[in-house]
Amino acid sequence: MTNYKFPDGFYWGGATAAYQCEGAWREDGKGFAVADLLTAGTRREPRKFEPDLSKGCYYPAEVAIDHYHRYKEDIALFAEMGFKMYRMSISWARIYPNGDDEEPNQKGLDFYRDVFEECRKYNIEPLVSLSHHDIPYALALKQDGWLSRETIDAYVKYCKTVFDEYKDIVKYWITFNEINMTMNYFGDIFGGGILSNNTTTIDINNAPEEAFTKEKQNKRFKALHHQFLASALAVKLGHETNPEFKIGCMIASDAHYPYSCNPANILAAQNSMRKIWYCGDVQVRGEYAPFTKKYLSDKGVELEVSEEDKKILKEGKVDFYSFSYYTSGTDCVDQEVDTDSGNFNLGAANPYLKKSDWGWGFDPDGLRWVLNEIYGRYKIPLIIAENGLGAIDKVGEDGVVHDKYRIEYLKEHAKAMKQAIDDGVDLIGYTWWGPIDLVSASTGEMKKRYGFIYVDKDNEGNGTLNRSRKDSFYYYKKLIESNGECLGEE
Ligand code: BG6
Repeated sequence: MTNYKFPDGFYWGGATAAYQCEGAWREDGKGFAVADLLTAGTRREPRKFEPDLSKGCYYPAEVAIDHYHRYKEDIALFAEMGFKMYRMSISWARIYPNGDDEEPNQKGLDFYRDVFEECRKYNIEPLVSLSHHDIPYALALKQDGWLSRETIDAYVKYCKTVFDEYKDIVKYWITFNEINMTMNYFGDIFGGGILSNNTTTIDINNAPEEAFTKEKQNKRFKALHHQFLASALAVKLGHETNPEFKIGCMIASDAHYPYSCNPANILAAQNSMRKIWYCGDVQVRGEYAPFTKKYLSDKGVELEVSEEDKKILKEGKVDFYSFSYYTSGTDCVDQEVDTDSGNFNLGAANPYLKKSDWGWGFDPDGLRWVLNEIYGRYKIPLIIAENGLGAIDKVGEDGVVHDKYRIEYLKEHAKAMKQAIDDGVDLIGYTWWGPIDLVSASTGEMKKRYGFIYVDKDNEGNGTLNRSRKDSFYYYKKLIESNGECLGEE
């Protein structure tokens, strides 16, 4: 029988992001983040970027799940499940409301100190993302977000403030959430803050053709280069601030398979994986991958990387690789195969996989596969910073959500993780995405729930915001308590 016991000290936990859970979007001196200004959408109706508040749209980020006021209750529930790690993000605009103010906002600094102290009270290790999709809106207006090199200085100043402030209480940091998001057209809003690209919708299933002009693509890759430099400078600064700091990258790393053994499909899948390696090589190895020139020229992109830039990248290599994994994609060039009704936005439908309510494939073996691929390439510790199932939950007559499907997702992915560890992968942590229901990034819905903890709030913002435990809450608790061993029970 397989032994599912995980290594001692394994960091089981959960992950959230400021603009998806905090709410209090203007409270205590906070400025707007670009992502705050996204309206609610659905699976079919894309979210819109609407900075004109006078139009009276509904913005899910305004209240979100009100974690800002309820963090003590939420962290107590995480502790009850036995969390060893809590991944969360600092909202840059809560610390520097305009992104580049002279002085930081003391109330913002106090809030995060309180959150970290609350975690420490329960021996929960904070894992802190410095930027999770949310560049300050004022900086996007002033500097076109990450397109401007000056944004690097503002970010490094913000990092210095929080590193100095929390050096005694936070050890694990992530410089940018899903940095490869900036390559996507909706990355103009999520993270990139490139307002001049005039992207107004988040449509993860159907990218509009006009979003991929050479000019727009050039801006994205330039902005991404600036983020790489900012990340490397932050890593260097962090290590100078406290040599004990562990600072990682975070890259969306879903698996990509060839649809068939047609060699053209194999090459297509290889190319899709380059969306991951493009960022990983820079952040882990400190240099662009050999395929970069061709990869960029195929997109009509010319990127200038100076000798000074190369030096910065070399000096700011990360200590660990963290990533999000939800599903896998299938690459297919065969004309007769329909690639529109596929998995998420990842190509042709995979006939071997079940799909979630939002069409994302259920693929635990894919997780084992990417863990092996990533570790084989970089050989540094790995953290799964996001993985989870967004589903429609129904509260039963007994007032409880009986989410067998989420337990199954968790179980199978946890088994795959242990198999990868047995394969030789140095996996040190797992933070389930959205241990408490929160606002979906891609659709802005509450209905797309990931939580082990149910939050009483609907898509229109109605509800008491009360928290309650789902069945999965007790399963995760057992999984953590047994350090994985219970996976072998049936
Ligand atoms: C990741 C993001 O892309 O996926 C999270 O880092 C996001 O912010 C998560 O919430 C799940 O996606 P969604 O669209 O279902 O919320």
